[in-house]
Amino acid sequence: MSDDRLIVALDVPNALEGLALAQKLGDAVSFYKIGLGMLTGGGLALANELKDEMGKKIFLDMKLFDIGQTVENAVRGLAQFNLDFLTVHGDPHVVRAAQEGKGDKDLKILAVTILTSLDRADLDASCYKDGDVQSLVLERAAKAMEAGADGVIASPQEAALIRALPEAEGKLIVTPGVRPVGAALGDQKRIATPAQAIADGADHIVVGRPVWTAADPRQAAQNILAELASPQATMPNG
Ligand code: C5P
Repeated sequence: MSDDRLIVALDVPNALEGLALAQKLGDAVSFYKIGLGMLTGGGLALANELKDEMGKKIFLDMKLFDIGQTVENAVRGLAQFNLDFLTVHGDPHVVRAAQEGKGDKDLKILAVTILTSLDRADLDASCYKDGDVQSLVLERAAKAMEAGADGVIASPQEAALIRALPEAEGKLIVTPGVRPVGAALGDQKRIATPAQAIADGADHIVVGRPVWTAADPRQAAQNILAELASPQATMPNG
């Protein structure tokens, strides 16, 4: 089993392309993220296939948000798919409902704090309280973990600050926005290298385009794994 600290985001439009990519990556990658973009393209069927036929771990990135009863019902249904990670928005009532819904399944509920695409002007437009974005991220992370989230999604810049919160003890930190040295940034702004993200307290990194747009995706994944195995990357949480 390869190092499951690397989660590859399968941000391709449909399950067939996702499966082809997973086959190319083979045993180099053991953990995949499937997001909303693939929901209508067979995302759940792909999750089943990767899990049951190929023995992979699955992170379903749904970022659920609704009244508690609806979140609970949705998570109860999704939990039947034997997923490993599922995202919900970090509002305490949503997190509590998701925990109810997962029942006794070994599914980790990860909370989204504030989407990294939002700046202070966006938060004003959504009537968020005053304060700089980073403080609000920390406050929302603490509240989500207090409400029972198994962990949070965070930018690499926030990972160290969240790791230092007392509420974060024993919780997972999963960071997208990770770029190996020399990789194209795409639309990511607040990035770190794989080794930096892990050294700052992340348990898992999510990497998409640097792997799936590479001429040799398997080699790209193996380069990231080599970096994770290097002395710069330490495992602060386990
Ligand atoms: O291609 P790239 O490595 O930028 O992909 C990162 C993945 O993580 C994408 O699926 C993206 O939607 C997701 N993500 C993110 N930033 C967040 C939350 C999720 O980039 N704050």
